[in-house]
Amino acid sequence: MRCDHTPAWQALQSHAAAFRSFDLRDAFASDAHRVSALSQSAPHVFADLSKNHTDTATEALLLALAEQTGLAAHRNAMFRGEPINNTEGRAVMHWLLRQPPGPAPTVRAELAEALAHVHTTLDAMLAYAEQIRADARITDVVNIGIGGSDLGPQMAVLALQDLVILGKRFHFVSNVDGHELAAVLNTLRAENTLFLIASKTFTTLDTMTNARSALAWYRAQGGRDVAGHFAALTTNVEAAAEFGIRTTFGFWDWVGGRYSLWSAIGLPLAIAIGASGFRDLLAGAHAMDQHFQTAPLEINLPVRLGLLDIWYRNFLGYTSRSIAPYHSGLRRVPAYLQQLEMESNGKRVDRNGQAVPYGTSPVLWGEPGTNGQHAYFQMLHQGTDVVPLEFIAVKKPTHGLKDHHELLLANAIAQAQALMLGQQDPGGHRHFTGNRPSTFLLLDELTPASLGALIALQEHRVFVSGAVWGINSFDQWGVELGKVLAKDIHARILSGNADGLDASTASLLQRVR
Ligand code: F6P
Repeated sequence: MRCDHTPAWQALQSHAAAFRSFDLRDAFASDAHRVSALSQSAPHVFADLSKNHTDTATEALLLALAEQTGLAAHRNAMFRGEPINNTEGRAVMHWLLRQPPGPAPTVRAELAEALAHVHTTLDAMLAYAEQIRADARITDVVNIGIGGSDLGPQMAVLALQDLVILGKRFHFVSNVDGHELAAVLNTLRAENTLFLIASKTFTTLDTMTNARSALAWYRAQGGRDVAGHFAALTTNVEAAAEFGIRTTFGFWDWVGGRYSLWSAIGLPLAIAIGASGFRDLLAGAHAMDQHFQTAPLEINLPVRLGLLDIWYRNFLGYTSRSIAPYHSGLRRVPAYLQQLEMESNGKRVDRNGQAVPYGTSPVLWGEPGTNGQHAYFQMLHQGTDVVPLEFIAVKKPTHGLKDHHELLLANAIAQAQALMLGQQDPGGHRHFTGNRPSTFLLLDELTPASLGALIALQEHRVFVSGAVWGINSFDQWGVELGKVLAKDIHARILSGNADGLDASTASLLQRVR
């Protein structure tokens, strides 16, 4: 049943009206068990949800909503490999990429063949990664890809910097803006460089333009061994071969671009941290998959987070969520999560193509703490909008610098506290209303396994809200129109033909020529 037609939705609406007077400070004062009731341990990740505008009664109503909208059945359909990406007629099986090999009671027999292919490809890709790691001639690895073919490996290589092999540099070129590629090429020598052309479709204009320029540059530098210096990561193996690339690691149409870090798209990370590190990343994500699949919904962390997202978006009217990783290695996590959430759930129609009358994806944004504190946290504390903030902190640092990590963690905890407690000052400017919500995610250490678990947690939480909204979280038709129009405008920039354009577009066209 569509979520807004369920009895639970109606009940949540009445509940939300009563909730207008909810105050976190009172909630803590009146409930000694609030922290334990609203905390949740999951593999590698501890979550304190207690500083959110929610309580156990709200969670109970949200769980009823999950039941009435068939969340568990939809989750199980994904894990059975059913084509839940209905607008593209595809299964959604990024989770299979982190499934260990061999007979698995949780994997249907029909998927055994797919799992075998996954492991054959993984083994080949990791063997190649080890070969490149051992090859001292390769000092620079350049990943050319965009969106899901860029953000995941880039985010993960930065996050796991301490484990990155010495003597190799990793570059990520995504933008069709030639300034980006040119700046990287200026630092390279052809004989020392490996280009990875990462594109699920192998048709994306930005990536193919960069790939062609990289190939031309390589040849112009006297490079003769294209096979040894270019590899492709793609589902479109034929297109890669046509491009002239002989080393290709494939994946499958049931892996969405923004869910593809676990596939061949993870090759730069595998080269950076090695085969065993990459397997640890998969194992951490798999542990979270199992948690999502088997933990009862009321103690299932992705479910609790996804339902909280629904509560905020549809009942309390909070339209955005800010992400604050208190670890500089996680600085690309906000950008990664932006694609994950907004490309997945930025939809205005349900799975049957009918417009939905309720809000879907929130706006996601953020920067690492403490930087954000000295920039936009002002608005979080004293602005007119309530923006739930998600802290991501790591208990143990990997550096040995004295004082820093305690100060970092103190700032994260203090910000969450300040948002909630506020400060009385009837005089005005120094007054903080407090009662501002936040979630605190804590990892013991930032390792391949904990990073894998954290990212899988976020994937599943996006699944949960998308499932309740009844939308298809696995297509992205909204990016197509701009691609088509860009082709037309490109031809017009070259020709100068502005016929039939609206006045503003025609005027801009003339200005850029
Ligand atoms: O245009 C959006 C998109 O298709 C994303 O979904 C995807 O991650 C990105 O472009 C890159 O696509 P590809 O890997 O096929 O080059």
